Amino acid sequence: MSKMPQICIVGGGMITQVQILPSVYQLQRLGLVGEVSVCALNSAPLNVLAQDQMLKKAFPGHSFKAYPSTDTEPQQNFPDLFREVIEKLPKGSIVIVAVPDQLHYPVIQAALASEQHICCVKPLVLKYSQALEIEKIAYEKGLVVAVEYHKRLDDRALIARQLYREGKFGEFRIGHAEMNEPYYYRHSNFQNWCTVENSDMFTYVGCHYVDQVHFITGLLPRAVSVYGIKDTYPNGKMGYLWTDARVIWENDACLHVTNITGYPDDGPGGNFQGLRIYCRGEDKSGMLVHNDQYRGIEHCYVKKGSEPGDTYYSEPSPDYFKYVELGGEGLTPVGYGYRSIEYILKNICKCIDVSAGVDHKQAVSRRQKLLKQFDNEGIMATPANSSYNELVTEAARLSILNGGRKVEITYGKNAGVDFHKD
Ligand SMILES: NC(=O)c1ccc[n+]([C@@H]2O[C@H](COP(=O)([O-])OP(=O)(O)OC[C@H]3O[C@@H](n4cnc5c(N)ncnc54)[C@H](O)[C@@H]3O)[C@@H](O)[C@H]2O)c1
Repeated sequence: MSKMPQICIVGGGMITQVQILPSVYQLQRLGLVGEVSVCALNSAPLNVLAQDQMLKKAFPGHSFKAYPSTDTEPQQNFPDLFREVIEKLPKGSIVIVAVPDQLHYPVIQAALASEQHICCVKPLVLKYSQALEIEKIAYEKGLVVAVEYHKRLDDRALIARQLYREGKFGEFRIGHAEMNEPYYYRHSNFQNWCTVENSDMFTYVGCHYVDQVHFITGLLPRAVSVYGIKDTYPNGKMGYLWTDARVIWENDACLHVTNITGYPDDGPGGNFQGLRIYCRGEDKSGMLVHNDQYRGIEHCYVKKGSEPGDTYYSEPSPDYFKYVELGGEGLTPVGYGYRSIEYILKNICKCIDVSAGVDHKQAVSRRQKLLKQFDNEGIMATPANSSYNELVTEAARLSILNGGRKVEITYGKNAGVDFHKD
């Protein structure tokens, strides 16, 4: 095994293409990680990644090993291939989980069984009991499991967290968050899995702002109700594509969250997102507003691109993920999408470094010390410090499938969710 850890990305879809693979290539360029493989359900997305012009331009000479091979028939599925690929990696490698939400759990189980460190896109899993199981096994083996809530690495969230904890805003009382994805999303592969029986728009993207409020304030949610409107995808499947949630927090504060797949394709941003919270001070109120969809840039182009969502007038965000020319070969990815992957992979590398040159028992114990540190710092989401999110998801699913009834969350020994009793 080379000194640099190998990386296997399981899932070759949209998030791998626009954020994960370029971030991993950049870290490979910087000498932090070694060989990269990508495993998908079939060769179709792998061919898209291999032919991606932007990736080729930004990272000339970089490539990934494809599982299944790119010359297999695009219709031929390999649903269990990830198990073999993960098992063949040297122990202590890195598995990045980027498959649809309901498949995170089996991929994580396979990675833990093969002693691999894990970076998982949000949500970690859909059940709290699964998050607890993952936390226990990972700690016993001294393996990192990180949940990639990339908004945590947005400087504005880190600044807000610091100031809130210094008491600058007062105590959160009432607020509103929105994360609205464009209408054309319903034409993507999304329509095959983000359907009523698996997920909904609150579960899919609402968790970002629930996590932001927790990340900033440290508060935990205690009740959730989600009203959802079903709509038809182009393939005829049904999804909750318009949702409205109310999240009540342990101090009785309330966050109202709107999530839709309905931001106009001709709108100026890639989506609409932001947070506004009002807080109570001693003799005045505080306020925190993040206009996350508008970061002060206004462009008007003379030619319009041909991709869905391309517009003449545009308000691009420079903050999530962009490529810039910084000299040297290719292009350099910048933004909190990149920083989030870098932060997690660097934490994993710290665990790999402390394991070098000592026996197995000592290596596990050294890694466990680091794992506790990551949990307590609370910057990197881990099962130990973020599995309240799984309880919110469970509560949200119970609520939306029951017309928006209020569902209470219990923490501690009897943690779980149940309908509110009047
Ligand atoms: N803001 C965020 O943090 C963010 C944004 C987008 C997506 N995501 C998450 O990323 C995950 C993937 O989303 P996406 O939009 O890239 O989805 P996608 O539908 O574009 O891609 C899913 C990929 O998973 C692969 N896959 C499916 N079954 C597989 C199997 N058995 N073995 C190996 N690969 C398999 C498919 O081939 C495909 O490449 C989801 O969990 C989603 O919630 C997070």
